[in-house]
Order: sequence, then structure tokens, then C-alpha cells
Amino acid sequence: MGGLSDAAQRLEGQKMFQILARAKELERAGKSILHFEIGDPDFDTPRNVVNSAYDALNHSQTHYAPSGGILELKVAAAEVTSRSRGFKPDLDQLLVTPGANAQLFYAMACSANQGDEVIIPDPSFVSYNAIASFLGLKVVTVPLREENEFRLNPEDVRKAVSDKTKMIIINSPSNPTGSVMTPEEDEEIFNIARSTNAYLLSDEIYARMIYKDSKTKFSSPSRHDHCKERVIVVNGFSKSYAMTGWRLGVVTGPKEITKKMELLLETTSSCVSPFVQYAGVEALRGDQEPILKMVEEFRKRRDVVVRGLNELPGVRCLEPKGAFYAFPNITGTGLTSQQFADKMLNEAGVALCPGTIFGESGEGHVRICYANSMENIEIGLSRIDEALRERD
Ligand SMILES: Cc1ncc(COP(=O)(O)O)c(C=O)c1O
Repeated sequence: MGGLSDAAQRLEGQKMFQILARAKELERAGKSILHFEIGDPDFDTPRNVVNSAYDALNHSQTHYAPSGGILELKVAAAEVTSRSRGFKPDLDQLLVTPGANAQLFYAMACSANQGDEVIIPDPSFVSYNAIASFLGLKVVTVPLREENEFRLNPEDVRKAVSDKTKMIIINSPSNPTGSVMTPEEDEEIFNIARSTNAYLLSDEIYARMIYKDSKTKFSSPSRHDHCKERVIVVNGFSKSYAMTGWRLGVVTGPKEITKKMELLLETTSSCVSPFVQYAGVEALRGDQEPILKMVEEFRKRRDVVVRGLNELPGVRCLEPKGAFYAFPNITGTGLTSQQFADKMLNEAGVALCPGTIFGESGEGHVRICYANSMENIEIGLSRIDEALRERD
């Protein structure tokens, strides 16, 4: 009988998927479940994008594509970066990938050796920790504090760096907190990365999801080096274009690393399906109105979710500035994050994530993804309310 590698034993996967699987099991057993556990927009992929994939399939875009991505998509992505971030990357700074998650893996695998350190925010997207741990990297966490509206404090990052730091990861707007960093903060963190000679991986997958009514502005540390030296911008189509199932993303970084990331992609996946890439071209070049409408709808839902959460006994919630997650503090209920999540799933039929799956500092919080209909949000809130009051 074969054995398992040490790395395989360390594999954790994405806990949200495991919570979703459990919720589906309960559904199959006849229980009504409302889903707030996974970051998947409830909207369909815009029609023009779907049609362009059909078109590409009908035109035989069903073979291998260049492993770094088709030229049309790279050109479109470079133009978008020029408009959104103020610089036009060279095409060899871009790599088309099967989703953003893969970018995180390629970037860490190509920049750090076993025992090297990666700095990540706590709480943060589960894959940062899971990938680093699979690769045998040492994770150094920096807490996001509620008193600081969950924004990463550059001073805390400064204290966390050492001569072993190979990468600093930031994520704004943030999963799971919805916080957005200020330009001053990301500039300071860029300077820390420069003085440490570490890569700064900026996960900007929620960049288009900043709510217009907040004064918050999106900023990317890539403005400092145009991704020529140390900033790696992680990005993808899953969230803002409602394309989670397509598995498509484009990463921008210094060519020394994107070249190696491309070889890793070529080694493990050969390339990204060409018809999916053509759909990506249409997503970037076509009408952006459906995307703006989705974000506006998410803003309305955010307002309802935050107001509703703040009315629950023992719960308080800051207003997220972007993405589609609320991260309420539930300490006033007397329950731990895990107890709260279990209770809601089993008693109220509401699936959500305990804050602790995003890191130790997530204790005392749960994550609610409000990419669900307004009706389900309202029913979900009242079911939570009922479950909390039943205990009194
Ligand atoms: C912060 C963050 N980065 C990356 C990803 C991965 O997205 P993709 O579907 O493109 O792999 C997610 C998905 O939840 C995320 O929240």
C-alpha cells in the first residue's frame, strides 16, 4: 500500500466548500437551508459573455491554447489595467490562469522555499494559509483589528517581517471583513516589502466591488512599481463578473516570476481552455452595465444585512466597504464562532462560516456572504433572530 506525503497530510482545502457540502447534505435530508457560506454571486454570468463562449466553441476554440494565455485576452487585460491602475503592463508580465486561487499557489511556490516566511492578514481568505502550509512555508499572521475597522496596520506588518520574509499578502477589499485599505496604508506596506526585498502580493479580486456611497477609494500598491519589481496583482473574473464556475483569472507581476508561474501552469494544467478565455475578452471589452448593476444590488443588500445584524441580540456589525461579506461580532451572544455557526445551520437552517476558519483572530465573529436574494437575506436574518431569542 502506498503512503501519503507529509505535504498531502497538511492539505486543508477550503473550509467553505466543506460547510457547503454539509449544508447540501441537510438539504437532501429535507431541511430548508439558506446559503450565506460561500462567496458565489447569485447572478448569472452576463449573457454577452456566455454567447461569446458559444461563439468560440462553434469556431473550434476547443484545442490547446498558448500556456501563458491568448494574446487577445492579455491585450484586453493590459488595457483594463491601464485604465484602472494607471499603467500598462508588458504582455510578459501577464499570465492567464484557471482562477485566482491557482495564482496564489503559483506565486508562493515560485517565490519561497520551505521554511521561508509569508506574512498574511488574520483573518483572511483560507487559501493563503492552506497553500503556504502545503508548501512548507512558515505563516506569520498579522491581526486585523475591529477597532481599526479590520484594516491592516502597517506598523504590525513592520513588526512581523524578518530576513526570512519572502512575501507579504494583502487583500483589499478584504475577504472575510469587507474592509478597504487606504492609499497611505498600502504605500507604507509597499515600502516595507521593498526594504525587506519581499514580494508584495496584492489580492485585488474584489477591486470592482467598492460601494459608491462610501468615501473609500480603491487603490493598488502596483502604482508604485507597475508590477515590474515586487508587486504581484492577483485578479480574476469569478466575483465581479459572476463567473465562479468558469475558472478564469489574470495575474500581473514582475516578468521574472510570471515566467516561472507560467511554466508551473504549463506543467500542471497545460493551458486555460481557449473558449473560456474568449469569454473573458468579452467580459473585459463588452458592456460593463450588468457589472455595475450587480455591485449596486450588492450595496443595497449590504445595507439590509448590516442593519438587520445590528438589531440582533448580542450581535454588532461594522459596515463593510467592499466585497460581499459581513463579519459581525457575535461575542455578546455568549457563543463561540463555531457554536454560533453550528446552531444556525442545525436549528435555523442558515449556513454561514465561523470566523475561525479565516484565522485565530476570527474568533468572536462569523462571516455572512450576502450574495443571495434580498428575500433570502430577510428570511435568514429573521431565522437567526428567532434562534438567538429562543435561548433566552
Ligand atoms: C480573496 C480571494 N482571493 C481569491 C479567491 C479565489 O477566486 P477564484 O474563484 O478566482 O479562484 C477568492 C475566492 O473566494 C477570494 O475570496
